[in-house]
Amino acid sequence: MTKYIHEGAIVGMGSLGTALLSRFDKGDVIGVRRTDEDYFQQILESRILLLCMKQGDILAWLDTHSGNLSDEQIVISFGAALSLKTLRKHSNNQVTLVRAMTNRGIARSRQDIIYTSEKPLTTPHLASIQGLFEQIGIAKYVGVSKDEVVDKETHKACDMGRIAFFLEHYQDALIRFLGYSLSEATQSIKQSLRAILDALESGEDLNVIAQRVASRGGITEASITEMSGVSTLMNLGMNAANDKMNELNNKYK
Ligand SMILES: NC(=O)c1ccc[n+]([C@@H]2O[C@H](COP(=O)([O-])OP(=O)(O)OC[C@H]3O[C@@H](n4cnc5c(N)ncnc54)[C@H](OP(=O)(O)O)[C@@H]3O)[C@@H](O)[C@H]2O)c1
Repeated sequence: MTKYIHEGAIVGMGSLGTALLSRFDKGDVIGVRRTDEDYFQQILESRILLLCMKQGDILAWLDTHSGNLSDEQIVISFGAALSLKTLRKHSNNQVTLVRAMTNRGIARSRQDIIYTSEKPLTTPHLASIQGLFEQIGIAKYVGVSKDEVVDKETHKACDMGRIAFFLEHYQDALIRFLGYSLSEATQSIKQSLRAILDALESGEDLNVIAQRVASRGGITEASITEMSGVSTLMNLGMNAANDKMNELNNKYK
């Protein structure tokens, strides 16, 4: 087996690439930017290439570089909604292609990573990928051509952003309507989140938690009743997420 200088190279140092690199043990993995003078050399010297560019850039990269890679190298695409079939159409050699998704792309904590491949991975390839991923998260190989599992994971990766967005507006409302300071509003949200998490972990459902803390005809209930339109907005948001996923799937078929 060839000895590679780098076990992994993250190609594309944007939002995801930077977050991923910060989790790896120093030295094992490098970050590759398109402006790097030794760009091509870094690619050829790395066993596993983690493509963290926008979808169109990943496909263009495969068109240009896949023919120069050895069959001992592994290409892992993190592009949302890029199926293995699409990735192969842009790879003109037998390089091993893997499609991965982080569960919490932007989280700084250890990330769950789900990945799938076109053919069963060889034992050395599987060992290399697991060895690399276990530094940053809990890696789960879901088997061959499980694009639908990775698509589902892509939706899950959006949860954190959506919930943070909701809370940002909630925080803003606390400040504007109830006169909280920013730190009071943040503190109150943190306390509530901790209490909700404790209750969820002890097996309570969200609707039970909401009812348990809202007395009938009381102050919490007044705002919950008024905010019932939120569920309509949630439906619209989830439909928009589905539409976007379908649009990307069709665009990069
Ligand atoms: N952000 C997330 O949390 C997240 C989570 C899961 C999956 N993803 C997926 O990850 C991919 C990247 O998302 P992102 O949010 O990180 O995008 P981003 O912030 O726009 O980063 C993309 C980076 O790729 C670079 N790039 C483009 N072509 C390149 C090339 N040929 N060689 C080297 N670098 C190149 C870009 O450089 P320039 O600035 O020079 O163009 C940019 O720094 C997307 O396909 C997305 O679906 C993202």
